[in-house]
Amino acid sequence: MKKFVLAMAVASVTTVSAFAALAEESNPAIVHRHGIYKIMAGHMTAMKSILFLGFEAPADLAFHAQGILDAFGHMGNSYPPGSDKGETKAKPEIWTQPDKLKQRATEAVDAAKALVAATAGTDKKATIAAFKGMGEKCKACHDDFRKE
Ligand code: HEC
Repeated sequence: MKKFVLAMAVASVTTVSAFAALAEESNPAIVHRHGIYKIMAGHMTAMKSILFLGFEAPADLAFHAQGILDAFGHMGNSYPPGSDKGETKAKPEIWTQPDKLKQRATEAVDAAKALVAATAGTDKKATIAAFKGMGEKCKACHDDFRKE
């Protein structure tokens, strides 16, 4: 069964562009951080569909919020020396301003915790506010540390 699941995963990977990215990029830290960021972005997109576009799955909001928080917990050592070279949009400031990067990351994790707390309740307005707060923290770090 395990082998079958793996085969399915490999088969589906070949159909998406991620495979092309894998083929081009050989730096594992870059590939890994892109994968984790995409997980976060996927959860944000799914939450948007529920909060603003009328997709009816309010019970899933807590899952997506927790997914974002969990993803931050799996960033690992995402910017090791040498991972400035390759298919990356990371700005050089990542390595020259580590304290500021850490601050941006901490703020984002706090926003993810606030989002988890908001989705534990049923107050949609509170969840929307926390969702916007999360988006602002993603953007704040991108403004400082990600190339256009
Ligand atoms: C502490 C800084 C920081 C935070 C917080 C952050 N990002 Fe990013 N993000 C980056 C950097 C830097 C890159 C560019 C990485 C690279 O190209 O190697 C990036 C890249 C991305 C990418 C592109 C991945 C790819 O495959 O090219 C997406 C999507 C993304 N972030 C989404 C998010 C979302 C959604 C959040 C908030 C939930 C978030 N990020 C929070 C710094 C951050």
